[in-house]
Amino acid sequence: MTNLLETREVVKNYLKARIPLVVVRSMERNRSADILTSLAGEFRQMPFYMHTRTEGLKQLSDGLLVSEDTSLPSAIDFATNLIKRTEYVNFVFTDVEDLEDESPTSRHFAELARLAEAHAGTIVIFSEKPVWTGLGRLGMSVTLDLPDIGEMYTVISGLVDQYRGQVHIDWDADDVRTAAGILAGVTETEATNVLASLIAGGTLTRDKLPELSEYKDRIFGDLAGIERIRLVDDYPIGGLRNLRTWLSKRERLMIADYSHTRVSPPRGILLVGVPGCGKSLSAKAIASGWNLPLYRLDMAAVLGMYVGQSESRLREALQTADRVAPCVLWIDEIDKALAGGGGDGGTSRRLIGQFLFWLQESTSRVFMVATANDISSLPPELTRKGRFDEIFFVDLPDAEDRAEILRMYFSRICNVDLSDALSARLVDASASFSGAEIRAVVDEIGLSMYADDRTAVYDDDTVLRFFSNTIPFAHSNAEDLEQIRAWGRTRAVPAGADQLTESSQREPAVPSRRIVMT
Ligand SMILES: Nc1ncnc2c1ncn2[C@@H]1O[C@H](COP(=O)(O)OP(=O)(O)O)[C@@H](O)[C@H]1O
Ligand SMILES: [Mg+2]
Repeated sequence: MTNLLETREVVKNYLKARIPLVVVRSMERNRSADILTSLAGEFRQMPFYMHTRTEGLKQLSDGLLVSEDTSLPSAIDFATNLIKRTEYVNFVFTDVEDLEDESPTSRHFAELARLAEAHAGTIVIFSEKPVWTGLGRLGMSVTLDLPDIGEMYTVISGLVDQYRGQVHIDWDADDVRTAAGILAGVTETEATNVLASLIAGGTLTRDKLPELSEYKDRIFGDLAGIERIRLVDDYPIGGLRNLRTWLSKRERLMIADYSHTRVSPPRGILLVGVPGCGKSLSAKAIASGWNLPLYRLDMAAVLGMYVGQSESRLREALQTADRVAPCVLWIDEIDKALAGGGGDGGTSRRLIGQFLFWLQESTSRVFMVATANDISSLPPELTRKGRFDEIFFVDLPDAEDRAEILRMYFSRICNVDLSDALSARLVDASASFSGAEIRAVVDEIGLSMYADDRTAVYDDDTVLRFFSNTIPFAHSNAEDLEQIRAWGRTRAVPAGADQLTESSQREPAVPSRRIVMT
């Protein structure tokens, strides 16, 4: 990661060292141009020229246009002639196309760089993508990252302070910091645009902060492989107490300011276990409880790309996640994607490697939630210690969990409070049921009540019959279940409370029926 000041320092040293070709990689031309303009002011003894497609070639010291012809070939001609005649000249090219591969343009620039080398000249090129290796190896490159929170803070507070007094602004330093946190990852121009339009609206009040997140979503609206999941509801969870306690301790860490420490934000979790027990639900509940946007990374879609495209698609998707941070990034059923997609095992392996590298290296606040049912098909490198912060095993709900889930859904769906007596009988009748299976039965009861035009629930025996007519997965697939459990119990931390090893004393049962993780 290189921020503005670091990049300026690197480029400054390259200029001093008379590196013949300097590639500044960035998607922000203006910020890169600011660096070069400021360095031109510092190295007054050397002439600097900058070419833009709209304005042509200008001398930076006086802003004078070099020729009427604004085209790139004419600028290259001018540079060639001047470099031949004079030493220590610098040319900055801000928008050049076709440099990624060998092309007439990239070969021209390679020639120009060789000429510069012979005459102590420097050619600076701005480029979003890496340039053709034949060109790149003639010089050095540096990547200017998007503004970090600190820089964004400076940009936003500069803009806000400029309009204080003219429009109604009630943002204090903390609000500006929040805004900077939300906008970190967009370009300086994008951030300035969105703030300017808010200010133009006449007021900059605290309730405008959520609009910033919406705006940010729009920037990343249409990327394949990654999808924003709209959270519509709260997502109450029964059971999974150990997981919930663990998560509640991490929440603060996701929003804390660690700019002065070496602490890095939580990386994420892998949830494995029995189908229908709340893995996918947890991903949604985490995002909704933490008030963060939820993005789903579609591994199967990424793997299904044409040969060679998968890697770049995954890279783009992960970069997007970094840019929209803070967010929750969810990979659902990662086992299925890896088992089915990709055809050859080579691609999945490379993608897993790429993904794990990102998981380790990325410093942005992306909380990863990956889920899997069938761990036998997961590559071992994914489940090795230290990749995720924790691997949780999600088992069937125990009696206490089932009581919680039953009460929750009876209240929500049938609008009834379960009596203790009925609750006890249903807890027994739903032994080995998953949360999803309990919910399905309660849904059925609700539907049937609706069809019968009833507001009161059926008598206890009838209710019980709905349950006894259902055969849970655990019975019909006993072997699969045993296999899942055997793996989960030895290699993962229980998500439920009953097998808690570190502290066997339970937390007091949560009194409320609708438990939302906050
Ligand atoms: N622990 C639970 N608490 C409450 N509801 C649950 C629980 N587990 C499953 N459910 C219900 O079942 C549905 C499916 O569960 P899901 O999270 O998709 O299972 P999976 O573990 O297979 O991803 C959920 O949307 C929810 O309605
Ligand atoms: Mg699921």
